[in-house]
Amino acid sequence: MNANTGNKDSLATPSHTPQLQAFCDVVESRRSVRRFTDAPIPDDVLADCLRLAMLAPNSSNLQPWEFYVIDDADKRKRAVKNCMNQNAAKTSARLIAVVARTDVWHDHAKKILREYPDMPVPKKVKDYYNKVVALDFLRGPANVVSVAKWSAIQVVRRIKGPIKSPYYTFEDTKNWATNNTALAAGNLMLALRAHGFDSCPMGGFDEPAMKRLLKLSNHHHIVMMIGAGERADNGVYNTQFRFEQDQFVHYV
Ligand SMILES: Cc1cc2nc3c(=O)[nH]c(=O)nc-3n(C[C@H](O)[C@H](O)[C@H](O)COP(=O)(O)O)c2cc1C
Repeated sequence: MNANTGNKDSLATPSHTPQLQAFCDVVESRRSVRRFTDAPIPDDVLADCLRLAMLAPNSSNLQPWEFYVIDDADKRKRAVKNCMNQNAAKTSARLIAVVARTDVWHDHAKKILREYPDMPVPKKVKDYYNKVVALDFLRGPANVVSVAKWSAIQVVRRIKGPIKSPYYTFEDTKNWATNNTALAAGNLMLALRAHGFDSCPMGGFDEPAMKRLLKLSNHHHIVMMIGAGERADNGVYNTQFRFEQDQFVHYV
């Protein structure tokens, strides 16, 4: 077994189930692939991968993500250029911008209450989306609400003990949306692998240029670009490795 890569043979335990094996196969065979073949990803396969992406856990189920599948030939050409002409973009069958939204929490909170699967919507749920979520995100003009929230939180923390900090700044909301969207991006790449395709996440792109191309606003943040397709024989550039776990895992 290779301790650094955590490869398959490391997991052959008595509790090894077919589900675990299938999961390990997907996770362990995913690589960042920089060259793809000419094989297309069928629309229904991509749609299923996106469905699985959006099953990612997300804060209060507010789903602050979007996926722009760049299929138009001219847009794609310009998008590849914005990805610094990386092979992972150039040779991809599909090129996807994974976008976090900082402005949808309010509409999505309302939508959750309209589309809640268990009617009538329990009062607790209504209160949560109408009051708690609103308080969490509202900043007010010139951040006036944030200042009030910050002061109130200091008092509550002293008197009552631990309390989750709300979002005070635009950066807080951006981090929130980005965290959630990155989880969906992870699901998307694993879903592609489970369908027999591959991907490469790319942070190496010109975000302002890509936002202009996709006509995105200041409330849209491109978390990563993902090139996807069928792995070419020379698609993986190096052997996968990770540092030892004990550098990162702390049992406290
Ligand atoms: C946020 C993020 C940005 C990345 N940007 C690029 C990129 O611009 N170009 C690239 O070739 N790989 C990029 N990668 C892929 C990493 O280099 C790769 O995941 C890492 O080397 C580990 O290899 P593996 O994914 O094959 O395990 C990125 C990965 C992540 C998660």
